[in-house]
Amino acid sequence: MNGIIFMEVGKFAKAKLGDQAWQEVVRLAGIPSRLYVPVADYPDEELVALLTTLSIKMGEPVPVILQSMGEFIVPDLIGISQYLIHRDWKTIDLIANTEEMIHKVLRGAGTKANPPELRCRRLRPQEVIVTYTSPRKMCALAKGIAKGVAKHYGERIIITEPTCMLKGGAACELVITVA
Ligand code: HEM
Repeated sequence: MNGIIFMEVGKFAKAKLGDQAWQEVVRLAGIPSRLYVPVADYPDEELVALLTTLSIKMGEPVPVILQSMGEFIVPDLIGISQYLIHRDWKTIDLIANTEEMIHKVLRGAGTKANPPELRCRRLRPQEVIVTYTSPRKMCALAKGIAKGVAKHYGERIIITEPTCMLKGGAACELVITVA
């Protein structure tokens, strides 16, 4: 996973628990203490170890942590991809265009970053149906990012997930509607 995500986990943990607690999380996770950089990729197992330890430390299940982290990281994600985001986009436009205009570009950016393929269907202007099939099974992060995007645009969204890989589905389907 790309260093940006690791940097954001650290930033999130420090904001919630403080600097010292983050050092403790890294130690307890049993992974090397690294200086994460955005142009590098790090093992997914290290991310899982960090999230699991953070989950114990914060007393919340991993999907809850992932969702609130997703919301937290949006301002930085939007910051780094500003040049790819159209000025007239709102929440549903950004989500519906992430695959073609953002994730696809990042996949070819020269690192091993492999953002998940987000298949989007837009049946009406205020709704997008996102099919997420990443083997990382981080649909909670996707939901958090969607909420963060809505916050960025000052909109309110409702998300339902009729099928989920964590509940045995072949894919996660997120129905995202502007309220
Ligand atoms: C706002 C612009 C966005 C940027 C700059 C961005 C960038 C990234 C990057 C760099 C990664 C790490 C991938 C890797 O290292 O393999 C990632 C992962 C991810 N992104 Fe995005 N993303 C954006 C929007 C979104 C949106 C709108 C969603 C879904 C609603 C989303 C869902 C995810 C998920 C779930 C992952 C975790 C990896 C996985 O599931 O395989 N992203 N993104």
